[in-house]
Amino acid sequence: MQFPVKKILACALLAVGASLAQAQTVIKFSHVVAQDTPKGKAAEFFAKKANELTKGKVKVEVYANSALYKDKEEMEALQLGSVQMLAPSLAKFGPLGVKEFEVFDLPFIFDNRDDLHKVTNGPVGAKLLKKLESRGITGLAYWDNGFKVFSANKPLKTVADYKGLKYRIQSSKVLEEEIRALGGMPQVIAFGETYQALQTGVVDGTENPPSNFYTQKMHEVQKHVSMTNHGYLGYAVIVNKKFWDGLPADVREQLNDAMRQATAYANQIAQDENDQSMEAVKKSGKTTIYTPTAEERLALKKALVPVHNKMSSRIGKDTIQDVYQATG
Ligand code: LMR
Repeated sequence: MQFPVKKILACALLAVGASLAQAQTVIKFSHVVAQDTPKGKAAEFFAKKANELTKGKVKVEVYANSALYKDKEEMEALQLGSVQMLAPSLAKFGPLGVKEFEVFDLPFIFDNRDDLHKVTNGPVGAKLLKKLESRGITGLAYWDNGFKVFSANKPLKTVADYKGLKYRIQSSKVLEEEIRALGGMPQVIAFGETYQALQTGVVDGTENPPSNFYTQKMHEVQKHVSMTNHGYLGYAVIVNKKFWDGLPADVREQLNDAMRQATAYANQIAQDENDQSMEAVKKSGKTTIYTPTAEERLALKKALVPVHNKMSSRIGKDTIQDVYQATG
């Protein structure tokens, strides 16, 4: 008699196990930066919180450093449902047809993080995220990275110093125009290929927040950095809409909660991470760091602000006005 009871119990356990395994939802979260960056750390934080708050019903698998997809492919993978979650830079939504996001790329549009948060935490930010719905994407949050610095193998002090160089940029028409306004030649290159492009001389320089610059080891192949803080780079955390809408409402709410906590964490660490990265670059002794004088920065601003007008028909006058108004 004992044997069948044991057998029944074992079968029951197997069935429970199988249904538990079935009940677990996997979210593949792909991104292109190193783990040790604001986005990398926030993605890990979200994964942990999501698992905790859903009591194991959701497992978030984070794939960092373009391990799964590079810039362009990850957007396609999200729309196809091969991954469920991404946090692309706001500069990478143009190819998707949502050009309004390029407002974030306009040089000198935000004086500081407070200005930026007036947009990302307010109705303007929410309105922009809504624009993704027609592309089968739901926007969940904005995560900070930081203000960009320029780098090259020659000192970049005056506006004239920027002229004639080739710069790697993200896939944004506004950034293309920014480089042209400086007399440079823009080249769109995937983030994961940037180090090599700099190393082999395909391009001469680039722009990025210090955390990306340092964790991609760009300081090994760029002799000069100029602390221009001329533009912002941050993220929209996005999910495949069909997948998201198909989740049970309680699970979705738990994930929203995990996302709120991860967003607070991301935005709290972003500045520090960038400051620490700049310190590390300094310590490496490989790159000279230059802080432009007030006059030099003003000259850079004068050269770059015309980009706002030039790109207004692409981004939309209303969107630019909304941002001006929000930032006061
Ligand atoms: C870049 O391509 O430079 C950035 O968008 C990378 C990132 O995700 O921060």
